[in-house]
Amino acid sequence: MPITLRLILSLLIASSVVVFTSTGYQAAQERRRLQGDLDRRATIVSERLLETAEPLIAGGRTEELQGIFDTFVQNERLRGVALYAIDREPLVMSKGLPENFHSLPLVADVAIHSDQGKSVLVQFGKEHWHLFALPVRQDETLKRVLVVFHDADYIHAHTSQVWRENFKQLLGHVLLICLIALIIVRWSLIQPLSRTLEWVRQISRGETAQAPPKGALFGPLTREVSRIAKRLEVAKAAAEEEARLRIAAESRWTPERLKEHVRSVLQGRTMVVVANREPYVHVHKGRQIQWMVPASGLVTAVEPIMRACGGTWIAHGSGDADRETSDSQGKLKVPPDAPFYTLKRVWLSKEEEDGYYYGFANEGLWPLCHIAHTRPIFRAGDWDYYRRVNEKFAQAVLDELEGTEDPFVLIQDYHFALLPRMIKNKRPDAKIAVFWHIPWPNPEAFGICPWAGDLLDGMLGADLLGFHIQFHCNNFLDTIDRLLESRIDWEQFAINRSGHTTRVKAFPISIAEQELATPPPKEESAESLKERLVKELGITAKWIGVGVDRIDYTKGIAERFRAVERLIEKYPAYREAFTFVQIGAPSRTLIKRYHDLGAELEAEADRINRRFQTRQWKPIVFIKEHRSHKEIIPFYRAADVCLVTALHDGMNLVAKEFVASRFDGRGVLILSQFAGASRELGDALLVNPYDTEQVADAIHYAIQMKPEEQQARMTRMLMTLQERNIYRWAADLVTDLSRISSPREPEAVAAQQA
Ligand code: F6P
Repeated sequence: MPITLRLILSLLIASSVVVFTSTGYQAAQERRRLQGDLDRRATIVSERLLETAEPLIAGGRTEELQGIFDTFVQNERLRGVALYAIDREPLVMSKGLPENFHSLPLVADVAIHSDQGKSVLVQFGKEHWHLFALPVRQDETLKRVLVVFHDADYIHAHTSQVWRENFKQLLGHVLLICLIALIIVRWSLIQPLSRTLEWVRQISRGETAQAPPKGALFGPLTREVSRIAKRLEVAKAAAEEEARLRIAAESRWTPERLKEHVRSVLQGRTMVVVANREPYVHVHKGRQIQWMVPASGLVTAVEPIMRACGGTWIAHGSGDADRETSDSQGKLKVPPDAPFYTLKRVWLSKEEEDGYYYGFANEGLWPLCHIAHTRPIFRAGDWDYYRRVNEKFAQAVLDELEGTEDPFVLIQDYHFALLPRMIKNKRPDAKIAVFWHIPWPNPEAFGICPWAGDLLDGMLGADLLGFHIQFHCNNFLDTIDRLLESRIDWEQFAINRSGHTTRVKAFPISIAEQELATPPPKEESAESLKERLVKELGITAKWIGVGVDRIDYTKGIAERFRAVERLIEKYPAYREAFTFVQIGAPSRTLIKRYHDLGAELEAEADRINRRFQTRQWKPIVFIKEHRSHKEIIPFYRAADVCLVTALHDGMNLVAKEFVASRFDGRGVLILSQFAGASRELGDALLVNPYDTEQVADAIHYAIQMKPEEQQARMTRMLMTLQERNIYRWAADLVTDLSRISSPREPEAVAAQQA
């Protein structure tokens, strides 16, 4: 039964009991009062009658008595009088009394026996009577009894009326009480109850519950549930955090995890990294020697791995103070301020550097592999130096591997295409991986190199060959297929040449994203940072764009400047409002094309600025100098838009650095569809860097993009970076290399014999 109905029924029963009891009491009181009145009246009547009638009674003069009796009952309520003998016979009776009174009434009997006046109310049919009996003495002896009959209908009518009135009141009371009860139940019980119920449901659904419903009635309950909910929330958060950490621990790679992983994979074996560029360059500054980190994607990526795992990095010692800061073997511990691993510098003569580095590597292979419409230059002299320097590095590696067994050698980049074969010939037990940091072109493009076959053969000395994206792996296999005698397993992506197998796989390189994610001091919001930077640049601007590159023709910097020009032309609202800041680190300046490019870019920026600039504003700020990471990060964090519009790029880590440094989830990345990073960072605005109109429109779209959209895009990209950071890259590379059996291992021997 519903609670409301139960409540109403209970109230009804309780009210009825109260009303019936009190009405009964009231009616009895009334009845007693009226009967009392009538008793007094009957007493007076009978005494007066007796005064008159006593001599007649004594004389037995019944006829006269009859006359007196009949006259007496003329009174309105007095309905009759009668005189009875003690033996019950009526002696005289006034006219009109009903037959019921022709024999002695009971009350008269009682009066006789008690010898005093007695009254009673009786009912015959519908009539109500009041009888008063008075014993009559004669000569001190009780001989007769006088009975006076009064009409008592009015007593009955009055008590009935009391009942009726009270019943009506009861009805009114009950209705009122029920109504009030309903209202109270609804306001004070049902509504708070349903609010409390909904609140508890929200909690049990795990939704963020609103504040607990107010009210004294459920106060203790909600307080208790609140406490339980809080404990549940804490437990839930702890469980979620634990799950998140577990998932993160499973999917996220950290320096510590990599260190453990590499240690368990190497099992005490030596690991050597070879890269042309050294991670720390020592240079003379006046009388002092300073060290700096060069502008290099390779260094950005590989250095955190070395810091985590230790080992030896063999590189060209290119700084003018490098010799003074290394030992007799060219070694020193780095980072210089907190040493973790060994840097072994290899010394090159000016001729070697010119021929190998500037010549073959950067005037030959670099333009050969980047489709940026700069012709490669192949000189036999450069090739000769390239080969000799590769031999020199091979010797440096072999020296380092002396006394070791089954070492791991990780060779970086296009400077060392011949190195894998040279090392493998001398140390077949070494597990060798090459990671090619630049794109690999199609067979037609690569085939124009006069020493293409030697390069490919040299690379196939490696056990594992890595590229940034699958497309470059495909191009490489196509190139081998076209230019070199070998057996290709297209399913396994493996090449067998003269009994040795090289596996080819994509390993998208990345960055140590956590290192960029530390928020700046509180007051440095993106907006205040922007204000500060703009002020330091001596301009005013509402929005800023940023580009960070080595000054290289593959980076599409001139095309980017022209896109900014088109933006200002097409959307005049950006005049005096948008400035593009290009940080360009001079690179390979001994090569004419690079030297000229620096000047060309300056001229292009000047031309565009002259077209639009005002006293306080210009569209392009070109900072043509090397800036450290610490100096660059504020630009990433302040920028409304970052332009990475390389004409062709293996990966491009600037794009990833920009995303990782935006812990606020703001800013928009405009990314070239020809950069390897575009395969992973699909939430950037992807553009064709040659399409000036499209890039200009992308900048406009980026600046106008709603914060929520920026946030959503940046969050998704950041998640990708967290999942695929540089530690995972290194772990994948080392794991895959460790799974390749070395020639001394039984399966390899069996394979070779087969
Ligand atoms: O892109 C290939 C690469 O080796 C990068 O890893 C690096 O950012 C860049 O070239 C550096 O070039 P260099 O060492 O010639 O300055």
